Amino acid sequence: MPGLKLSPITQTEHASDVFNLTLRATDYVTLEIGHAPTHDFVDSFFTAAPPGLTTDDLLHFAVMEGPAMAGIVCIARGYEFPNDWWIGLVLLDPAFRGRGIGTATVGLIKEHATAQAVASLKLSVLEANPRAMHFWIQQGFLPHRYALATPDSDGHNRWVLTCDL
Ligand SMILES: CC(C)(COP(=O)(O)OP(=O)(O)OC[C@H]1O[C@@H](n2cnc3c(N)ncnc32)[C@H](O)[C@@H]1OP(=O)(O)O)[C@@H](O)C(=O)NCCC(=O)NCCS
Repeated sequence: MPGLKLSPITQTEHASDVFNLTLRATDYVTLEIGHAPTHDFVDSFFTAAPPGLTTDDLLHFAVMEGPAMAGIVCIARGYEFPNDWWIGLVLLDPAFRGRGIGTATVGLIKEHATAQAVASLKLSVLEANPRAMHFWIQQGFLPHRYALATPDSDGHNRWVLTCDL
């Protein structure tokens, strides 16, 4: 998609841009955490690393359509295996959904990953988000395992999906 790119972002420089994006995408944030976005949500977007990894293993991008910030992406390198990338979040502003930007974003992630010899992409989808499940299956991801909510978790059942590159 011409004009679409993934621009690296940092918490220091872009926290308020990311917060504004999450406010525009309150629908998804509320589905995931049960309430409207807060600065804590933005903080964990930038700092929450999967088990065994640190913030140095995280990549953060803005999805830019020309000058407009259409969405955000977080990736953890090396989770759950050294040659895997875990997609922590792809979140688009509702005004930019449903016209191919998500598909193009996944294409750019796959290009980046392939250039770095990544073997597979993985992610988890909330069972409560069937449109996203449909989207990821369209992008070539396959169900890998089902992760039931536990008493200590956020209450969501999730599908873990994988896509070999
Ligand atoms: C899921 C998401 C990244 C897809 O990007 P997109 O640009 O809307 O999708 P595309 O236009 O490239 O692809 C279309 C497919 O995406 C899905 N989709 C379209 N609009 C959507 C919306 N408003 N919400 C969720 N999924 C949507 C549908 O499955 C659609 O398939 P269809 O055309 O057969 O109906 C985007 O809609 C989004 O950010 N949704 C909210 C956050 C989210 O659910 N993220 C995924 C977490 S695992």
